[in-house]
Amino acid sequence: MNTTQTQNSPRADPTTILDTALRRAITTTLGDDYRDTDPLIRPSQRPQLGDFQANAAMSLAKRLGRDPRKLAQQIAKAATNELSAIAEPPEVAGPGFINIRLKPKALAEMLTAVDTAALGITPDPDTRPIAIDLCGVNIAKQMHVGHLRSTIIGDALARILERRGREVHRENHLGDWGLTIAMVLRELRASEADLDALVLDDLDAAYRRAQHQCARDTNADAAAKEVLVALQQGDADVRRDWQKIIDVTMRAVYESFDLLGVKLGPQNNRPESSYRDQLPEVVDAFIQAGIAQEDQGALIIRFDDRDRPLIIRKSDGGYLYSTTDLAAVRYRVQQLEASRVIYVVDARQRDHFRDVFDAVRRIGWDLLADGTRAQLVHVPFGAVLGTDRTPLKTRSGENVPLTTLLKKAIDRGTLEVKKRAADPAAPTHGLDPRQLAQIGRAVGIGAVKYADLSSDLVRDYVFNLDRMIAFEGNTGPYLQYAHARVCSIFAKANVDPQEVGDAGFVLKDGSERQLALLLLRYAGVVADTARTLEPHRLCTFLYDLANAYSSFYERCPVLKAQSDPLRRSRLRLCGLVRRVLADGLDLLGIEAPQRM
Ligand code: ARG
Repeated sequence: MNTTQTQNSPRADPTTILDTALRRAITTTLGDDYRDTDPLIRPSQRPQLGDFQANAAMSLAKRLGRDPRKLAQQIAKAATNELSAIAEPPEVAGPGFINIRLKPKALAEMLTAVDTAALGITPDPDTRPIAIDLCGVNIAKQMHVGHLRSTIIGDALARILERRGREVHRENHLGDWGLTIAMVLRELRASEADLDALVLDDLDAAYRRAQHQCARDTNADAAAKEVLVALQQGDADVRRDWQKIIDVTMRAVYESFDLLGVKLGPQNNRPESSYRDQLPEVVDAFIQAGIAQEDQGALIIRFDDRDRPLIIRKSDGGYLYSTTDLAAVRYRVQQLEASRVIYVVDARQRDHFRDVFDAVRRIGWDLLADGTRAQLVHVPFGAVLGTDRTPLKTRSGENVPLTTLLKKAIDRGTLEVKKRAADPAAPTHGLDPRQLAQIGRAVGIGAVKYADLSSDLVRDYVFNLDRMIAFEGNTGPYLQYAHARVCSIFAKANVDPQEVGDAGFVLKDGSERQLALLLLRYAGVVADTARTLEPHRLCTFLYDLANAYSSFYERCPVLKAQSDPLRRSRLRLCGLVRRVLADGLDLLGIEAPQRM
């Protein structure tokens, strides 16, 4: 970055500008050896003291055996000139915090600079493709909550990465190629089921019967294995039946995608079976490279730091889940040219991915054409628990099917929306039932998604619709409601947001400043979320923004502002808040209705 530009142009985000200036001030004060010291710029904890604080003086003073307050004063003094274009002279507080307050004009200019279609978000300089492994349902079984989480989180991460200009391959690694399917196929054939009339519940039932039988009856088990061999060898009859049960399963899966509003469809399917022809060659490559070895007839890869090896071929010659995953990584890195391969899969598969990634690195299949190595990451997530804090099960002990959960959430959302619409003062009052149902669906699904994304992903969470659908607190509906409230200002004033698009920002009240400072952070938060793959960062930001908007709304009359310039400034501020809320929710895959 060019120096004059960072110094004088308010076009960069303030944290970057302050970071550069304070680095220079530290060097001026302590000499060139300290050039790489992070000045630790943070948004201020106490807005009355400043907008930002630089916290580095304390630890520097400790290291140097100097008085922290004095050192902070020296750095602050050195920074004063550097910052004069955009900030008041920095002040030292407490044990050595350097407080910085932006000049109102600079803050207004910075805000104007981010009030564009991109909302300040700049494209990722790295333009290489990314692959995200998500959903991964198993054929012949209901999609369960684990697949729900993978789908929701994976789709949100894809949207966030795409928002920064990355090309994302959403890879649905469908489980369509193992013994489970063969067991179901055998069972259906034995019971002479009419495969053309099947629905997913029948497959589920068949799976349970098959499991039961194969466990007790070795003949059934052997027969299932025979079906598997026939399937894998391409037996036409078995293949035809196999395709039928795939179709039945996928119909229900697509229905769930539709309910969820995720950007996923048949074009994203890259099932386990699509790698089948590569498996012998995959295994050979590991043998040739001296990485895999025979062990009691099986082929395994050992790791120095763990007891359990990775099995890549069974003693009966069959291939495994792991073998397919090795082929899939190779495909993603070498064919899709993904510089980052992200696996959004249940935390219980942590060891599996550690083994697979290590095996891949050993053989060098993570090597990209440009000589760099692809980043292989497992994004593990926790279980969804019932209100009794045990994994969500139906009363009879089955996994709860996904559609049941989603429909419940939609019903609850709709109920809530209808209840509110009954109030004659509500903006939704008088909407027809179809419109209300649409909003209810957005609220229900938004609630589920937000609950899924807003806490640390590896933590288990309780599926509690009461809490998730509350319009208060850190929930999806609360954010949707904040957005709708901003919309209603424009509706009330009968103003098109475009109309105030060029109003000058007048940021006098503390709550206006806070709102402005938050809005300036949006692009950075999106970038951080993309880097860390932690959607809760974006959620927290949006929640803070919604809260800051509430305080602003309480303190600052918008339509009845004292002067016309102030009214126009506040309307423009509202418009920007609305767009950032809508955009942020969209990145999380959550709809933002205009009225609620
Ligand atoms: N089908 C797997 C399961 O349900 C998930 C697939 C995850 N992706 C992968 N590449 N292994 O457990």
